[in-house]
Amino acid sequence: MNLPDHIAIIMDGNGRWANKRFLSKNAGHKAGAEALRKLSERMNGQFKYLTVYAFSTENWSRPQDEVSGLMSLLGDYIQQYIDDSKKNNMRMNVIGDLSRLEARLREKILYLTELTKNHPGMCVSIAINYGGRDEIIRAVKRACADVLSGTLSPEAINQQSFSSYLDTDGIPDPDLIIRTSGEMRLSNFLTWQSAYAELYNCPKLWPDFTYDDLIEAVNIYMGRERRFGKR
Ligand code: FPP
Repeated sequence: MNLPDHIAIIMDGNGRWANKRFLSKNAGHKAGAEALRKLSERMNGQFKYLTVYAFSTENWSRPQDEVSGLMSLLGDYIQQYIDDSKKNNMRMNVIGDLSRLEARLREKILYLTELTKNHPGMCVSIAINYGGRDEIIRAVKRACADVLSGTLSPEAINQQSFSSYLDTDGIPDPDLIIRTSGEMRLSNFLTWQSAYAELYNCPKLWPDFTYDDLIEAVNIYMGRERRFGKR
């Protein structure tokens, strides 16, 4: 089998990583952000698409200081890529419902997306305030609006045309979804897009996940047979 074009990752285990070290949850998320930075920079040039789950629609119900810590970490992460945009050739993208984010963070995200939209490197999509079911509902609403305005006929709705209403429009479905820390769930990540993805679970906690672990996942993926429901 070929290399996967699109790898998606559920970066789980930051909290447990921090607990083991008697550190705050936010220290765990900071270490997780660093692991992501290192990994994406090694992957760039080898893989075409990387999508990561940074903040789910359910994560708002975590303690307030953890939510604000994560939001400020995301803001710093985005800012770093804005500052480095001349040196860095990755295309930076965000998926999720941005309307609930603070205006300053939302503006930074839109600015970074615009700044890097023609970059030739790996396309990195960060899922922020993302939920697969929420994404589908938002897509249905947009499709309904187009039906009402007469620009979309109900007969023209099929899997391909519907996909273009999703946040991942223009990005192929993930070939491989990796989840760290041993949990065996998709947790509302890429619900539509994961239909035929290969799943891989790594027992390591996210801040400990390295490029070598990714290559191990890719090797296992390449040893599998994908039939997409056929013989
Ligand atoms: C799950 O670990 C992880 C998250 C809820 C957030 C993921 C965020 C990062 C890796 C860092 C921020 C990302 C960017 C792009 C700056 P958990 O806290 O649920 O871990 P636990 O299950 O061990 O408690």
